[in-house]
Amino acid sequence: MGRVLVTGGAGYIGSHVMVVLGRKGYRCVCLDNFSNSSPRAVERAQVLAPGAIEAVEADIRDTEALRRVLAGADISSVIHLAGLKAVGESVEKPALYRDNNVRGTQCLLEALAGSGVRTFVFSSSATVYGNATAMPIGEDAPTAPASPYGENKLEIERMLAKLAGEDPSWRVASLRYFNPVGAHESGTIGEHPSGTPNNLMPYVCQAAAGLRGPLRVFGTDYPTPDGTGIRDYIHVMDLAEGHMAALTALPLTPPGTVMTVNLGTGMGHSVLEVVDTFERVNGVKVPRELAGRRPGDVPICYADCSRARQLLRWSSRRTLEDMCRDAWRWQVLNPAGY
Ligand SMILES: NC(=O)c1ccc[n+]([C@@H]2O[C@H](COP(=O)([O-])OP(=O)(O)OC[C@H]3O[C@@H](n4cnc5c(N)ncnc54)[C@H](O)[C@@H]3O)[C@@H](O)[C@H]2O)c1
Repeated sequence: MGRVLVTGGAGYIGSHVMVVLGRKGYRCVCLDNFSNSSPRAVERAQVLAPGAIEAVEADIRDTEALRRVLAGADISSVIHLAGLKAVGESVEKPALYRDNNVRGTQCLLEALAGSGVRTFVFSSSATVYGNATAMPIGEDAPTAPASPYGENKLEIERMLAKLAGEDPSWRVASLRYFNPVGAHESGTIGEHPSGTPNNLMPYVCQAAAGLRGPLRVFGTDYPTPDGTGIRDYIHVMDLAEGHMAALTALPLTPPGTVMTVNLGTGMGHSVLEVVDTFERVNGVKVPRELAGRRPGDVPICYADCSRARQLLRWSSRRTLEDMCRDAWRWQVLNPAGY
Protein backbone atom coordinates (compact mmCIF):
# COMPACT_ATOMS: atom_id res chain seq x y z
CA MET A 1 0.00 0.00 0.00
CA GLY A 2 1.45 3.37 -1.05
CA ARG A 3 1.25 6.50 0.99
CA VAL A 4 -1.58 9.01 1.24
CA LEU A 5 -0.76 12.60 0.33
CA VAL A 6 -2.73 14.74 2.78
CA THR A 7 -2.80 18.36 1.62
CA GLY A 8 -3.67 20.73 4.46
CA GLY A 9 -2.71 17.95 6.87
CA ALA A 10 -1.53 20.37 9.55
CA GLY A 11 -5.00 21.90 9.82
CA TYR A 12 -7.82 21.08 12.20
CA ILE A 13 -9.42 18.29 10.19
CA GLY A 14 -6.25 17.13 8.40
CA SER A 15 -4.36 16.46 11.64
CA HIS A 16 -7.19 14.20 12.85
CA VAL A 17 -7.42 12.46 9.46
CA MET A 18 -3.69 11.66 9.56
CA VAL A 19 -3.94 10.24 13.08
CA VAL A 20 -6.89 8.00 12.16
CA LEU A 21 -5.10 6.78 9.03
CA GLY A 22 -1.75 6.38 10.76
CA ARG A 23 -3.22 4.30 13.55
CA LYS A 24 -4.83 1.98 10.99
CA GLY A 25 -1.53 1.28 9.24
CA TYR A 26 -1.63 3.90 6.47
CA ARG A 27 1.43 6.07 5.93
CA CYS A 28 0.84 9.75 5.17
CA VAL A 29 2.75 12.62 3.65
CA CYS A 30 1.44 15.87 5.09
CA LEU A 31 1.78 18.78 2.66
CA ASP A 32 0.96 22.20 4.09
CA ASN A 33 2.14 25.79 3.75
CA PHE A 34 1.18 26.50 7.39
CA SER A 35 -0.80 29.59 6.34
CA ASN A 36 -3.48 28.66 8.87
CA SER A 37 -1.79 26.06 11.05
CA SER A 38 1.29 25.21 13.07
CA PRO A 39 4.02 22.62 12.49
CA ARG A 40 3.36 21.62 16.12
CA ALA A 41 0.04 20.11 15.02
CA VAL A 42 1.96 17.73 12.78
CA GLU A 43 4.47 16.93 15.53
CA ARG A 44 1.64 16.03 17.87
CA ALA A 45 -0.09 13.94 15.21
CA GLN A 46 3.25 12.15 14.76
CA VAL A 47 3.24 11.30 18.49
CA LEU A 48 -0.30 9.90 18.24
CA ALA A 49 0.54 7.87 15.12
CA PRO A 50 4.23 6.97 15.53
CA GLY A 51 6.20 6.43 12.34
CA ALA A 52 3.21 7.06 10.07
CA ILE A 53 3.49 10.73 9.13
CA GLU A 54 6.09 12.61 7.14
CA ALA A 55 5.79 16.39 6.74
CA VAL A 56 6.62 18.60 3.75
CA GLU A 57 6.23 22.36 3.81
CA ALA A 58 4.90 23.46 0.41
CA ASP A 59 2.10 25.36 -1.25
CA ILE A 60 -0.37 23.45 -3.44
CA ARG A 61 0.05 26.20 -6.05
CA ASP A 62 3.73 25.28 -6.41
CA THR A 63 3.37 22.58 -9.07
CA GLU A 64 7.12 21.92 -9.21
CA ALA A 65 7.30 21.28 -5.46
CA LEU A 66 4.32 18.93 -5.78
CA ARG A 67 6.00 17.07 -8.63
CA ARG A 68 9.12 16.60 -6.50
CA VAL A 69 7.03 15.15 -3.66
CA LEU A 70 5.14 12.86 -6.00
CA ALA A 71 8.36 11.65 -7.65
CA GLY A 72 10.00 10.61 -4.41
CA ALA A 73 7.34 9.51 -1.98
CA ASP A 74 5.47 6.43 -3.28
CA ILE A 75 2.06 8.13 -3.11
CA SER A 76 -1.02 6.12 -4.13
CA SER A 77 -3.89 8.43 -3.14
CA VAL A 78 -4.67 12.00 -2.15
CA ILE A 79 -6.88 13.55 0.49
CA HIS A 80 -7.13 17.21 -0.47
CA LEU A 81 -8.00 19.43 2.49
CA ALA A 82 -5.75 22.43 1.81
CA GLY A 83 -7.75 25.58 1.39
CA LEU A 84 -8.89 28.83 2.93
CA LYS A 85 -12.19 28.38 4.74
CA ALA A 86 -13.51 31.60 6.29
CA VAL A 87 -16.84 32.34 4.63
CA GLY A 88 -16.84 36.03 5.62
CA GLU A 89 -13.26 36.57 4.46
CA SER A 90 -14.13 34.96 1.11
CA VAL A 91 -16.75 37.69 0.57
CA GLU A 92 -14.11 40.37 1.25
CA LYS A 93 -11.32 38.68 -0.74
CA PRO A 94 -12.91 36.55 -3.48
CA ALA A 95 -9.80 36.70 -5.73
CA LEU A 96 -7.56 35.38 -2.95
CA TYR A 97 -9.99 32.53 -2.29
CA ARG A 98 -10.27 31.62 -5.95
CA ASP A 99 -6.50 31.66 -6.35
CA ASN A 100 -5.78 29.57 -3.28
CA ASN A 101 -8.69 27.14 -3.47
CA VAL A 102 -9.59 26.73 -7.16
CA ARG A 103 -6.25 27.47 -8.84
CA GLY A 104 -4.51 25.59 -6.02
CA THR A 105 -6.57 22.49 -6.83
CA GLN A 106 -5.84 22.92 -10.57
CA CYS A 107 -2.11 22.99 -9.79
CA LEU A 108 -2.42 19.88 -7.65
CA LEU A 109 -4.29 18.04 -10.44
CA GLU A 110 -1.70 19.18 -12.97
CA ALA A 111 1.07 17.70 -10.84
CA LEU A 112 -0.92 14.48 -10.31
CA ALA A 113 -1.50 14.12 -14.07
CA GLY A 114 2.17 13.18 -14.51
CA SER A 115 2.03 10.61 -11.69
CA GLY A 116 0.13 7.36 -11.38
CA VAL A 117 -2.10 8.69 -8.59
CA ARG A 118 -5.78 8.51 -9.56
CA THR A 119 -7.60 8.12 -6.21
CA PHE A 120 -8.74 11.48 -4.88
CA VAL A 121 -10.76 12.49 -1.81
CA PHE A 122 -11.85 16.12 -1.63
CA SER A 123 -12.96 18.22 1.37
CA SER A 124 -16.16 19.79 0.20
CA SER A 125 -18.76 21.43 2.38
CA ALA A 126 -22.46 21.62 3.10
CA THR A 127 -22.18 25.31 2.19
CA VAL A 128 -22.66 24.21 -1.44
CA TYR A 129 -26.36 23.76 -0.61
CA GLY A 130 -26.73 27.43 0.34
CA ASN A 131 -29.87 28.26 2.28
CA ALA A 132 -31.71 25.01 1.65
CA THR A 133 -35.07 24.67 3.36
CA ALA A 134 -36.09 21.04 2.75
CA MET A 135 -34.60 18.80 5.47
CA PRO A 136 -32.77 16.51 5.72
CA ILE A 137 -30.48 17.60 2.88
CA GLY A 138 -29.61 14.79 0.49
CA GLU A 139 -26.74 15.01 -1.99
CA ASP A 140 -29.17 15.51 -4.88
CA ALA A 141 -30.63 18.66 -3.32
CA PRO A 142 -30.12 21.77 -5.46
CA THR A 143 -26.82 23.56 -4.94
CA ALA A 144 -26.83 27.33 -4.45
CA PRO A 145 -23.71 28.49 -2.61
CA ALA A 146 -24.17 31.84 -0.90
CA SER A 147 -20.48 32.86 -0.74
CA PRO A 148 -17.32 32.78 -2.87
CA TYR A 149 -16.04 30.06 -0.51
CA GLY A 150 -19.07 27.88 -1.28
CA GLU A 151 -18.70 28.64 -4.99
CA ASN A 152 -15.04 27.52 -4.84
CA LYS A 153 -16.12 24.17 -3.35
CA LEU A 154 -18.74 23.60 -6.03
CA GLU A 155 -16.37 24.60 -8.82
CA ILE A 156 -13.77 22.14 -7.54
CA GLU A 157 -16.37 19.34 -7.26
CA ARG A 158 -17.32 20.00 -10.91
CA MET A 159 -13.68 20.12 -11.99
CA LEU A 160 -13.12 16.68 -10.43
CA ALA A 161 -16.28 15.22 -11.96
CA LYS A 162 -15.22 16.48 -15.40
CA LEU A 163 -11.77 15.02 -14.96
CA ALA A 164 -13.11 11.56 -14.07
CA GLY A 165 -15.65 11.83 -16.91
CA GLU A 166 -12.86 12.42 -19.44
CA ASP A 167 -10.37 9.99 -17.93
CA PRO A 168 -12.01 7.04 -16.15
CA SER A 169 -8.77 5.98 -14.52
CA TRP A 170 -9.74 8.50 -11.81
CA ARG A 171 -11.86 7.66 -8.79
CA VAL A 172 -13.09 10.64 -6.81
CA ALA A 173 -15.00 11.21 -3.56
CA SER A 174 -16.23 14.70 -2.74
CA LEU A 175 -17.15 14.71 0.93
CA ARG A 176 -19.56 17.43 1.99
CA TYR A 177 -18.92 18.12 5.67
CA PHE A 178 -21.59 19.52 7.93
CA ASN A 179 -20.27 21.12 11.17
CA PRO A 180 -17.09 19.45 12.46
CA VAL A 181 -16.44 20.02 16.17
CA GLY A 182 -14.53 18.43 19.06
CA ALA A 183 -11.00 17.15 19.21
CA HIS A 184 -8.93 13.98 19.55
CA GLU A 185 -9.67 12.39 22.92
CA SER A 186 -6.04 12.89 24.03
CA GLY A 187 -6.62 16.66 24.01
CA THR A 188 -3.33 17.14 22.15
CA ILE A 189 -4.72 18.12 18.74
CA GLY A 190 -7.79 20.26 18.11
CA GLU A 191 -9.15 23.43 16.58
CA HIS A 192 -7.58 26.80 17.32
CA PRO A 193 -9.06 29.49 15.09
CA SER A 194 -7.02 32.67 14.77
CA GLY A 195 -8.90 35.69 16.09
CA THR A 196 -12.53 35.62 17.19
CA PRO A 197 -14.04 32.21 16.39
CA ASN A 198 -16.72 32.24 13.68
CA ASN A 199 -18.08 28.85 14.71
CA LEU A 200 -20.14 27.96 17.75
CA MET A 201 -18.03 25.34 19.57
CA PRO A 202 -14.68 27.20 19.60
CA TYR A 203 -16.51 30.30 20.82
CA VAL A 204 -18.28 28.30 23.55
CA CYS A 205 -14.89 26.91 24.66
CA GLN A 206 -13.24 30.32 24.77
CA ALA A 207 -16.22 31.96 26.50
CA ALA A 208 -16.26 29.19 29.13
CA ALA A 209 -12.51 29.73 29.65
CA GLY A 210 -13.09 33.46 30.19
CA LEU A 211 -11.07 34.36 27.09
CA ARG A 212 -14.06 35.95 25.30
CA GLY A 213 -17.15 37.88 26.27
CA PRO A 214 -20.53 36.16 26.56
CA LEU A 215 -21.67 33.93 23.72
CA ARG A 216 -24.22 35.78 21.60
CA VAL A 217 -27.06 33.45 20.63
CA PHE A 218 -28.27 34.81 17.30
CA GLY A 219 -32.00 34.22 16.89
CA THR A 220 -34.30 32.88 19.60
CA ASP A 221 -37.57 32.97 17.65
CA TYR A 222 -36.92 30.37 14.98
CA PRO A 223 -39.58 27.69 14.44
CA THR A 224 -37.58 25.16 16.49
CA PRO A 225 -38.44 23.65 19.91
CA ASP A 226 -36.37 26.21 21.88
CA GLY A 227 -36.34 28.95 19.24
CA THR A 228 -32.60 28.74 18.45
CA GLY A 229 -31.03 27.50 15.21
CA ILE A 230 -30.43 23.80 14.66
CA ARG A 231 -27.32 22.40 12.96
CA ASP A 232 -25.77 19.00 12.29
CA TYR A 233 -22.60 18.87 14.42
CA ILE A 234 -20.20 16.00 13.74
CA HIS A 235 -17.28 14.90 15.90
CA VAL A 236 -14.03 15.54 14.02
CA MET A 237 -12.87 11.96 14.76
CA ASP A 238 -16.03 10.57 13.14
CA LEU A 239 -15.36 12.87 10.20
CA ALA A 240 -11.76 11.63 10.01
CA GLU A 241 -12.99 8.02 10.03
CA GLY A 242 -15.31 8.97 7.16
CA HIS A 243 -12.22 9.86 5.10
CA MET A 244 -10.68 6.49 5.82
CA ALA A 245 -13.95 4.84 4.78
CA ALA A 246 -13.82 6.77 1.48
CA LEU A 247 -10.21 5.70 0.86
CA THR A 248 -11.21 2.08 1.51
CA ALA A 249 -14.33 2.25 -0.66
CA LEU A 250 -12.94 4.03 -3.73
CA PRO A 251 -10.61 1.29 -5.05
CA LEU A 252 -13.56 -1.14 -5.04
CA THR A 253 -15.69 1.11 -7.27
CA PRO A 254 -15.84 0.98 -11.09
CA PRO A 255 -13.27 3.15 -12.92
CA GLY A 256 -14.38 6.74 -13.38
CA THR A 257 -16.49 6.73 -10.19
CA VAL A 258 -17.34 10.13 -8.75
CA MET A 259 -19.17 9.93 -5.44
CA THR A 260 -20.56 12.95 -3.67
CA VAL A 261 -21.29 12.12 -0.05
CA ASN A 262 -22.56 14.07 2.96
CA LEU A 263 -20.62 13.57 6.19
CA GLY A 264 -22.81 14.52 9.12
CA THR A 265 -24.71 12.72 11.85
CA GLY A 266 -28.16 13.11 10.32
CA MET A 267 -29.30 14.76 13.55
CA GLY A 268 -29.67 18.39 14.47
CA HIS A 269 -28.91 20.11 17.78
CA SER A 270 -29.98 23.62 18.69
CA VAL A 271 -27.56 26.28 19.92
CA LEU A 272 -29.04 26.14 23.43
CA GLU A 273 -28.89 22.34 23.44
CA VAL A 274 -25.15 22.50 22.60
CA VAL A 275 -24.46 25.13 25.25
CA ASP A 276 -26.51 23.36 27.96
CA THR A 277 -24.87 20.01 27.16
CA PHE A 278 -21.44 21.67 27.27
CA GLU A 279 -22.16 23.11 30.72
CA ARG A 280 -23.57 19.83 32.03
CA VAL A 281 -20.82 17.45 30.89
CA ASN A 282 -17.95 19.79 31.71
CA GLY A 283 -19.29 21.37 34.90
CA VAL A 284 -18.58 24.90 33.65
CA LYS A 285 -20.67 27.99 32.90
CA VAL A 286 -20.93 29.47 29.42
CA PRO A 287 -21.89 33.14 29.78
CA ARG A 288 -24.45 33.96 27.11
CA GLU A 289 -26.70 36.70 25.86
CA LEU A 290 -29.65 36.41 23.53
CA ALA A 291 -29.50 38.42 20.30
CA GLY A 292 -31.53 38.91 17.13
CA ARG A 293 -31.34 36.72 14.06
CA ARG A 294 -28.32 37.10 11.74
CA PRO A 295 -29.14 37.75 8.11
CA GLY A 296 -28.65 34.67 5.95
CA ASP A 297 -28.98 32.08 8.75
CA VAL A 298 -31.49 29.29 8.15
CA PRO A 299 -33.50 27.91 11.10
CA ILE A 300 -32.59 24.25 10.62
CA CYS A 301 -29.92 22.35 8.69
CA TYR A 302 -29.03 18.67 8.94
CA ALA A 303 -27.80 15.97 6.59
CA ASP A 304 -29.35 12.92 5.05
CA CYS A 305 -26.54 10.43 5.70
CA SER A 306 -27.96 7.38 3.97
CA ARG A 307 -25.55 7.58 1.04
CA ALA A 308 -22.54 7.51 3.38
CA ARG A 309 -23.92 4.41 5.07
CA GLN A 310 -24.56 2.74 1.74
CA LEU A 311 -21.43 3.69 -0.23
CA LEU A 312 -18.83 4.11 2.51
CA ARG A 313 -20.29 1.71 5.10
CA TRP A 314 -19.70 4.56 7.52
CA SER A 315 -21.83 6.43 10.00
CA SER A 316 -20.99 8.68 12.92
CA ARG A 317 -20.68 7.06 16.35
CA ARG A 318 -19.90 9.87 18.78
CA THR A 319 -22.53 11.86 20.70
CA LEU A 320 -23.00 15.55 21.40
CA GLU A 321 -21.70 14.81 24.91
CA ASP A 322 -18.47 13.39 23.42
CA MET A 323 -18.10 16.46 21.18
CA CYS A 324 -18.49 18.86 24.14
CA ARG A 325 -16.19 16.89 26.44
CA ASP A 326 -13.41 16.51 23.89
CA ALA A 327 -13.61 20.15 22.75
CA TRP A 328 -13.26 21.33 26.36
CA ARG A 329 -10.37 18.98 27.16
CA TRP A 330 -8.45 20.43 24.18
CA GLN A 331 -9.29 23.98 25.34
CA VAL A 332 -8.17 23.39 28.93
CA LEU A 333 -4.91 21.70 27.93
CA ASN A 334 -4.12 24.27 25.18
CA PRO A 335 -5.61 27.64 26.15
CA ALA A 336 -3.41 29.45 23.62
CA GLY A 337 -3.62 26.77 20.90
CA TYR A 338 -0.44 25.14 19.61
N1 LIG B 1 -13.88 23.18 9.57
C1 LIG B 1 -15.04 23.23 8.94
O1 LIG B 1 -16.05 23.64 9.53
C2 LIG B 1 -15.16 22.78 7.51
C3 LIG B 1 -16.43 22.53 6.98
C4 LIG B 1 -16.55 22.12 5.66
C5 LIG B 1 -15.40 21.99 4.87
N2 LIG B 1 -14.19 22.26 5.40
C6 LIG B 1 -13.01 22.14 4.52
O2 LIG B 1 -12.13 21.19 5.06
C7 LIG B 1 -10.78 21.56 4.78
C8 LIG B 1 -9.98 21.58 6.07
O3 LIG B 1 -10.61 22.47 6.97
P1 LIG B 1 -10.02 22.79 8.40
O4 LIG B 1 -11.15 23.17 9.27
O5 LIG B 1 -9.10 21.71 8.82
O6 LIG B 1 -9.22 24.11 8.06
P2 LIG B 1 -7.72 24.55 8.46
O7 LIG B 1 -7.54 25.95 8.05
O8 LIG B 1 -7.47 24.19 9.87
O9 LIG B 1 -6.86 23.57 7.54
C9 LIG B 1 -6.56 23.87 6.21
C10 LIG B 1 -5.07 23.69 6.03
O10 LIG B 1 -4.72 23.98 4.67
C11 LIG B 1 -3.50 24.72 4.68
N3 LIG B 1 -3.46 25.48 3.43
C12 LIG B 1 -4.28 26.48 3.03
N4 LIG B 1 -3.93 26.92 1.81
C13 LIG B 1 -2.86 26.15 1.42
C14 LIG B 1 -2.05 26.13 0.26
N5 LIG B 1 -2.24 26.98 -0.75
N6 LIG B 1 -1.05 25.22 0.20
C15 LIG B 1 -0.83 24.37 1.21
N7 LIG B 1 -1.55 24.35 2.34
C16 LIG B 1 -2.58 25.24 2.45
C17 LIG B 1 -3.58 25.57 5.93
O11 LIG B 1 -2.31 26.01 6.37
C18 LIG B 1 -4.23 24.61 6.92
O12 LIG B 1 -3.28 23.85 7.61
C19 LIG B 1 -10.84 22.91 4.07
O13 LIG B 1 -10.74 22.69 2.70
C20 LIG B 1 -12.21 23.42 4.45
O14 LIG B 1 -12.72 24.28 3.46
C21 LIG B 1 -14.04 22.65 6.69
